[in-house]
Amino acid sequence: MGKYNFDKWIERTGTNCVKYDFAKESGYSGEELSLWVADMDFETVPEITDALVERAKHGIYGYSMPKKDYWDTVTSYMENEHNYKTKREWYLNAPGIVFALAMAIRAITKEGDSVIIQRPVYHPFTRMVEANNRKLINSPLKEVMLNGTIHYEMDLKDFEEKIQLHNVKLFILCNPHNPVGRVWTRDELISIGEICRKYGVVVVSDEIHFDFVYPGFKHTCFASISKEFGNMTISCTSPTKTFNLAGLQISNVIIENEEIREKVIEEIKSVGYDEPNIFGMIACKAAYEFGKPWLEELNEYLLGNLNYVREFLKKHLPKISLIEPEGTYLIWLDFRAYQLTKEELEQKIVKEAKLRLNVGGMFGEEGEGFERVNLATPRAYLEKAMKQLEQVFVDLR
Ligand SMILES: Cc1ncc(COP(=O)(O)O)c(C=O)c1O
Repeated sequence: MGKYNFDKWIERTGTNCVKYDFAKESGYSGEELSLWVADMDFETVPEITDALVERAKHGIYGYSMPKKDYWDTVTSYMENEHNYKTKREWYLNAPGIVFALAMAIRAITKEGDSVIIQRPVYHPFTRMVEANNRKLINSPLKEVMLNGTIHYEMDLKDFEEKIQLHNVKLFILCNPHNPVGRVWTRDELISIGEICRKYGVVVVSDEIHFDFVYPGFKHTCFASISKEFGNMTISCTSPTKTFNLAGLQISNVIIENEEIREKVIEEIKSVGYDEPNIFGMIACKAAYEFGKPWLEELNEYLLGNLNYVREFLKKHLPKISLIEPEGTYLIWLDFRAYQLTKEELEQKIVKEAKLRLNVGGMFGEEGEGFERVNLATPRAYLEKAMKQLEQVFVDLR
């Protein structure tokens, strides 16, 4: 038994929480078990809560800015945990990564310019490109068979052809990749990065999941690979996914290239964002200072949940295949063997199994027939969900 109890169920309804409180408004009955939006049903690091309470007691919450100690903590974390040596002046804050993606799109491209992504991928990539009237170019990931299961790879040939054909200006990389769970290898990142360098494509590397990596895999910060890559990259990092702080709205964006950085800063100022949220800053600093033991135990717990689901599916639902994740607490399940239509699959998952998952098609049409499941919940809740799934799918041919 570790120091932290991830088995403890904490009721979240009534806390303005997106995952449980708004089910009825979005067309669900509210009875479904929730394994969708990517936050966790776990209490954060106790030192983070203590730091927030301490600051709250001060009673004055005026305009605030991070001081040197904040940036010292963030740069140390990046160097010690992610082997990326950064300088304070490369950083800027944003309330969230999706916001930062939108700002990067607006700073680097003009209306009508092409932005490339690799679907199936976190759906706001598509939304931010389209909402800003840029042309969306998709270079789908390839499904290849590895040790009898599906493994996703980048399609370098297709990627390069599309960059040339559409005169692509910006690439949004998901590293590690949500929802397919790949932790891209250094070699893969070098290959894709060389293509971007050849054509002058700026890379936005969304690394929000970088602290969730399963044993045997290693995250590489794209910008850390070389000076050249650092010089063409906007790295999006945040403590919010790792330490369950999404409601506190803080992220740290790293841009080595001064010209690119100034353009992004200008864009951020133009939409009226200036200083970060005081509680976000306090939480980020405490997380990076004190969070490591908690994170290590959390990752073990998540691995236990993953092992549980893998065994359960093998034994009871062998037609559902688990795409082995290398990172993230999200798993990608392939239901295509049942040959159901989109509507039939949703009917079975939501109405019959009473589960709220993320339907694969929301990540692009390549995701149809898949469902994304959030593992970051107490084991007992996950077991209940798997049993509900079994009841509906076990006899289905
Ligand atoms: C790849 C990826 N980027 C960004 C986000 C959201 O970031 P934020 O809440 O900081 O906008 C998520 C959340 O699930 C994500 O999976």
